[in-house]
Amino acid sequence: MIAAHDLIDVLPGPVVVIGSDERIAMINPAGRTVLGTALTGRHYISALRQPSLLAAVESVLKTGVMAGARYSTKDDSGNDITYVVSITRIQTALVLHFEDLTDRHSADQMRRDFVANVSHELRTPLTALMGFIETMLRGPAKDDPVAQERFLTIMEAEAGRMNRLVGDLMSLNRVETQERLRPTDPVDLGALLGSVAHGLTQLADEAQVKLEVRVPEAEITVPGDDDQLRQVVTNLIENAIKYGCDGGKVMIALLPPSFDTRLRREVVEIVVRDYGPGIDPVHLPRLTERFYRIDTHRSREQGGTGLGLAIVKHIANRHRGRLHVESELGQGSSFSVILPI
Ligand SMILES: Nc1ncnc2c1ncn2[C@@H]1O[C@H](COP(=O)(O)OP(=O)(O)OP(=O)(O)O)[C@@H](O)[C@H]1O
Ligand SMILES: [Mg+2]
Repeated sequence: MIAAHDLIDVLPGPVVVIGSDERIAMINPAGRTVLGTALTGRHYISALRQPSLLAAVESVLKTGVMAGARYSTKDDSGNDITYVVSITRIQTALVLHFEDLTDRHSADQMRRDFVANVSHELRTPLTALMGFIETMLRGPAKDDPVAQERFLTIMEAEAGRMNRLVGDLMSLNRVETQERLRPTDPVDLGALLGSVAHGLTQLADEAQVKLEVRVPEAEITVPGDDDQLRQVVTNLIENAIKYGCDGGKVMIALLPPSFDTRLRREVVEIVVRDYGPGIDPVHLPRLTERFYRIDTHRSREQGGTGLGLAIVKHIANRHRGRLHVESELGQGSSFSVILPI
């Protein structure tokens, strides 16, 4: 038969067994990480310390009826962690099983934030549409074809925004579901950069921005999803044009293979650099969050949904690569996508 300590040692969450002498009889590695080492043989009161957990243990010792309690602590990086501890009596011993609630909590919180954000983003154009419909049906624009034409143009833009938002949400959803599956088709990155930049020349001209593409002579291919990599490069160049147009120039480069110490493998790097106002460092860690925009008003005006970089990050992840942003106020920004070859 398997020994009890071997059994609890393989369990991923913290498990503590209290013997009939009320001392710690066994504790698994995950338990030692949370509660500390050298606890075996100590009385449970000095080992567990938190009053609500002690009260629950005491009640199970007395009544034998299973009980639960919360146990709060901090991890190495100082983040709060909450466990729900279930305490069960097996013969003369008590088994304490800790379940981490934090992951579940933050996932719940994220889902709620996401729904709130989507509703808000959809409601803004929808409210505008309803207002214009009302004005045209029953309001002052009822018999005014000139005003009607003007309103219809605005309505077209608002409907376009809703359409883009829904399109981006679907795209994000698709990438997220595929994230575990690394794409395998060879993609010629030099050709891809050239063709995306070419497709954006009109946008660049309108913003009076010069696009400069630098790719090595030798063909560079990565295992990838052509459409998704196009989407990545398109959003980065569009952003550089939209938010960095003051610089008058956007540089798009493909760097030859090198060893990446973070991914610990050979990679190539796509760099999109602008010479615009740059990004305050306080925003950098949050840029890839869904709907995060530095200047919400400016981004909305440009038709942005704030989902572009979230999609870029997920596509980079799916390719087992990463996104790296460097920026300094007044010095422009540089967005790099690093892809394993
Ligand atoms: N090159 C850049 N220079 C300055 N700020 C930038 C740059 N790229 C992105 N940002 C900031 O990051 C925010 C998020 O970018 P993201 O691409 O995710 O969304 P968006 O461009 O607003 O909308 P979408 O890409 O969905 O059209 C932008 O709103 C902008 O504030
Ligand atoms: Mg964008």
